[in-house]
Amino acid sequence: MTVDSSIMISFSTASKEYDNQTALRDITFMVEKGEMVFITGPSGSGKTTLLKLIYSAERPDSGHISVAGWDINNLKESTIPLLRRHIGVVFQDFRLLANRNIFDNVAMALRIRGAAEREIKTKVYESLKSVGLRHKSDSYPRNLSGGEQQRVVIARATVAEPNLLLADEPTGNLDADTAEGVMRIFKNINAKGTTIMIATHNKELYRNTGKKVIRLDSGNLVDVGKG
Ligand SMILES: Nc1ncnc2c1ncn2[C@@H]1O[C@H](COP(=O)(O)OP(=O)(O)OP(=O)(O)O)[C@@H](O)[C@H]1O
Ligand SMILES: [Mg+2]
Repeated sequence: MTVDSSIMISFSTASKEYDNQTALRDITFMVEKGEMVFITGPSGSGKTTLLKLIYSAERPDSGHISVAGWDINNLKESTIPLLRRHIGVVFQDFRLLANRNIFDNVAMALRIRGAAEREIKTKVYESLKSVGLRHKSDSYPRNLSGGEQQRVVIARATVAEPNLLLADEPTGNLDADTAEGVMRIFKNINAKGTTIMIATHNKELYRNTGKKVIRLDSGNLVDVGKG
């Protein structure tokens, strides 16, 4: 664990290249436990890459990253699942399992944490209700619209009240009212202690929130401001 246990995420001059092209350059910032932080910037500025570094789906080429006390630079492959057990993700490439119904897709997040079946039942229905999809629990992903699938992904990411939630353009597919509902869910779990990082183009999500906003441009951190 890190010395300072109030810190959830720390980047210190972290850089990431893909095929000799720099996606992130000398990024330094800190996120305290319990914060809700937004990452914004134009398409290709490095938002998704930054979230992937936190999730250890990509490794930094230089600099240092720690997440929840884990040293991401030196994390063993076998330790990655332990890190991920504490992280809920809303990523485009973490879609729902096609051969499992909606209930089981959401329940998965609790099952990998070893929750009891009774608790799983209560929490999954509660979580599906919060995204307005309680009535779809027996359906399969292919029978849901894109926006409904996105809401199930959000239920799956939040149901276990993870220590850290990473969301990449979580409201991209959603109409304004549904997006507002999703932000309300995020605020609720943030109030219960989950640290949240949201990458988004949508200024509406952070405007007047007073939350930290990390602005990226062409792989550089240009500004840490307030929404
Ligand atoms: N797997 C990859 N291989 C090679 N280059 C990549 C890969 N992933 C991202 N890049 C490049 O890295 C840069 C940053 O990409 P990233 O996906 O982090 O941007 P982003 O801010 O999330 O963009 P968007 O708003 O379009 O989602 C871009 O130039 C992109 O082309
Ligand atoms: Mg992206």
